[in-house]
Amino acid sequence: MCNLSTIHIIPNIYLKCKAFNLILFKILFTIHEIEVYNQTMYMDFFGIKEKPFNVTSDPNFLFLSRVHNEAFSHLLYGIREKKGFLQITGEVGAGKTTLCRALLNQLDRNIKSAFIFNSTLPELQLLQAILEDFGLTIEKRNKVALLRQFNNFLIEELSRGNNVILIIDEAQNLKPSILEEIRMLSNLETDKEKLFQIILVGQPELKNKLDTTALRQLKQRIAVRFHITPLEKDEVEKYILHRLTVAGSNGQIQFPQDAIESIYAFSGGIPRLINMVCDKALLAAYVMETKDITLPIVEKSIQELAGAV
Ligand SMILES: Nc1ncnc2c1ncn2[C@@H]1O[C@H](COP(=O)(O)OP(=O)(O)OP(=O)(O)O)[C@@H](O)[C@H]1O
Ligand SMILES: [Mg+2]
Repeated sequence: MCNLSTIHIIPNIYLKCKAFNLILFKILFTIHEIEVYNQTMYMDFFGIKEKPFNVTSDPNFLFLSRVHNEAFSHLLYGIREKKGFLQITGEVGAGKTTLCRALLNQLDRNIKSAFIFNSTLPELQLLQAILEDFGLTIEKRNKVALLRQFNNFLIEELSRGNNVILIIDEAQNLKPSILEEIRMLSNLETDKEKLFQIILVGQPELKNKLDTTALRQLKQRIAVRFHITPLEKDEVEKYILHRLTVAGSNGQIQFPQDAIESIYAFSGGIPRLINMVCDKALLAAYVMETKDITLPIVEKSIQELAGAV
């Protein structure tokens, strides 16, 4: 039953909630401000303009190790020669996404690209996402219409002398039925050439998936394959230096040889793991007010990370 007093309570609660939300907002905003302030202090201390070891796939930080360089050449060759299907695999955190983003940044203007990273989408949504990433406005949301629209787009681009590429990241997550659909998409071709190139990028499980009997037709079509292995021991120091330089360091941050060896032993040359250790070590060094990232600092960071990776 609703009497007068209940009616008065409701706005009261509402007001209290509002006041509470305001306080919460103020606290969160203050935390955010402190964080920004701390980050500025951190970067000022090291004399850098951005954090050198973020774990995002920022292509501006790309270090062309031997293996990344080779992977890049394979991709460019496959695209230029219109090889149809290309496959790039690599361990978790080996640099697949970073490489793809760097590739997209460097493509000529006559190459139209789409980059799909949500590989768990159902068939229709995936097709839609592909078209939208190519900049198309969806006309009708059914498979036949989407395929027709895509085909027309491809033919138009071909007539303009353009090359079209589709990159599917995290392709190890694609269901076999969707991989089969993608193979069917690649049937869109003229008598003379493929209408577009498809680059499947994924963790080693992608290879296993393509080895299954159900997908043998797709496997046979893959013309270019490359597996990204971790960095070699001698490349770890160069990698760290490269990222520091891109972040704006002029040699003021020092990692001695024994610290580098320890990072290599822990990471096995996997860039994401290198970043995680270095990021932690830099933060610890900042707290200790030193720019020498010594072996004890690195070892402590590794210990802290050991449970997390
Ligand atoms: N060649 C490289 N140059 C610079 N940074 C790199 C390189 N390779 C990897 N990294 C860095 O390592 C981290 C992981 O890279 P990325 O996300 O590209 O790996 P991935 O292979 O796509 O991983 P996942 O298997 O989880 O998708 C990122 O911070 C990225 O910037
Ligand atoms: Mg990735």
